[in-house]
Amino acid sequence: MKIGILTSGGDAPGMNAALRAVTCAALKKGIEVFAIYDGYKGMVEGNIKKLTKEDVDEILNKGGTIIRSARLPEFKELEVRKKAVEQLKKHGIDAIVVIGGDGSYMGAKKLDEMGIRCVGLPGTIDNDISSTDITIGFDTSLNTIVEEIEKIKDTGKSHSRCMLVEVMGNRCDDLALYSAIATGANIVISKNHMLSNQQVIDDLKARRNKGEMFELIVIAEKLIDSEKLLKDIQENTDWDARLTILGHTQRGGIPTAMEKVRATQMGYYAVKLLTEGITGVCVGIKDGKLVHEDILEALKKESLVSNDMIEIIDNLD
Ligand code: ADP
Ligand code: F6P
Repeated sequence: MKIGILTSGGDAPGMNAALRAVTCAALKKGIEVFAIYDGYKGMVEGNIKKLTKEDVDEILNKGGTIIRSARLPEFKELEVRKKAVEQLKKHGIDAIVVIGGDGSYMGAKKLDEMGIRCVGLPGTIDNDISSTDITIGFDTSLNTIVEEIEKIKDTGKSHSRCMLVEVMGNRCDDLALYSAIATGANIVISKNHMLSNQQVIDDLKARRNKGEMFELIVIAEKLIDSEKLLKDIQENTDWDARLTILGHTQRGGIPTAMEKVRATQMGYYAVKLLTEGITGVCVGIKDGKLVHEDILEALKKESLVSNDMIEIIDNLD
């Protein structure tokens, strides 16, 4: 067996740790490992290079992905995937590890159906994959968000303002809910905790009447027009308000210790599965244990709604 490895979709801190674990675990078993650069794009173009232990020795602590990531919508087309399979065969690669989100998993499953063994690892800051409790990248991103929000709180409190912060998550609640809890935000707008602009305005007025001098609102991206909410607050309340859209700072940075641990566990497990002849599955950690599940079964399920987090947010102030 020869293993190809790629990172696909949005990059996430910890992807390098997973890459290192897969490479080291495979090499130790005498299996060659090939980096496929730029996700499925590099697979189609044949941008493939054999990895040595030295290539991955120093990457455990690095953010991003040293083999780069990309999106290639055309990979949905069979003819494009046939070219990718040809490239893999040219290098003798008969198994792949795909580190990415649900879109990348779909690509992997289709390659599996074309005779390439595959295992998916959950690499995304969004935590929107049902087959794992926590994805590679989520913890680091959450910590970055919390660090940034604490800075925003410093200045917001100094000016008695209402500070709005929009965070990533691609319609998944988790980055918004977890960061709101970790920063003590009273108002959160997320997919499963939607508030209208009027509800936010009424809430802010009520809080003002209680004598509050500072408010923090965490907003999950892609759900509402945050600029419009800011304007509505400014025009309809006596709160001085400011909006920060955190943006791509949330995707970078040194992975947290637990990120590196989990990415290494999952990377190691992926190689173990492939050597046992298991294919078409994605890896996760559930209740602290390494698990795997058929990719299609995993993709059918919605990622879990963090109802307990919503209840906590609604009942703390
Ligand atoms: P993520 O993996 O983070 O969900 P995307 O949804 O952008 O990110 O998917 C990453 C890549 O996976 C896409 O650019 C494409 O190359 C591949 N992909 C996505 N969906 C499919 C699909 N249905 N069939 C084959 N490949 C897909
Ligand atoms: O999926 C990861 C993610 O960072 C989402 O949270 C966000 O919506 C999206 O990717 C941003 O993608 P891009 O880097 O292409 O703007």
